[in-house]
Amino acid sequence: MRLFLASGNAHKVAEFQELVRSSGLPVEIVSARAAGGMPPVEEDTGTFAGNATKKALALLERVPAPAWVLADDSGLCVDALHGDPGVESAYYAGPAGDPAANLRKLIEQMRPFPPAQRGASFHCVLVLAGSGFPPRRFTGVCRGHLRETPAGGSGFGYDPLFIPEGESRTFAEMPESEKNRISHRARAWQALDLHLRTLLPAQSSLPAP
Ligand code: IMP
Repeated sequence: MRLFLASGNAHKVAEFQELVRSSGLPVEIVSARAAGGMPPVEEDTGTFAGNATKKALALLERVPAPAWVLADDSGLCVDALHGDPGVESAYYAGPAGDPAANLRKLIEQMRPFPPAQRGASFHCVLVLAGSGFPPRRFTGVCRGHLRETPAGGSGFGYDPLFIPEGESRTFAEMPESEKNRISHRARAWQALDLHLRTLLPAQSSLPAP
């Protein structure tokens, strides 16, 4: 089964290829580039699920049927900021989408809040859309809290501030393989993985990831 990924981001293609590899499913993740590129999509629905669905359907129109498309949308929701930056996570500090500026803005916005009020969650919604099939959504959440100062050099985005529940290190202080076991994307993938196994009955004897 080939899954076209509704993203122009090479980092994401690699991350999903790694998730597929560790699940053992007979699935090939194919970049939207192989279908002529990801068409521009305005992410204006106000929800992760709405935006991911829009991206999936936009790419599905572009690939020759029959085909399967996978789209994702994700972001950080901070309790003390009433869910911000949320769906605007990539553009929190402005339309340039500068990750370092986004991180600085979050540090500033959180400055007034003591440790007990620094709860936050990463969210990810994956949408699987296939020719003739209604889109299906799979959600993953990773709960944690925010440090006052960044720590760690790996990962991306808000990783240097975010400490997942039960941990003392930020995502940016963990090896990528460790983050990828507990992250919001990994959890959404686990839900999708179970569904893919029902679409691939011949492979149902595969071990669970
Ligand atoms: P998108 O899903 O590519 O639109 O990502 C939205 C934004 O959410 C990213 O640009 C990051 O700012 C943030 N984000 C999503 N997932 C992560 C993560 O795993 N670590 C850090 N930041 C993330």
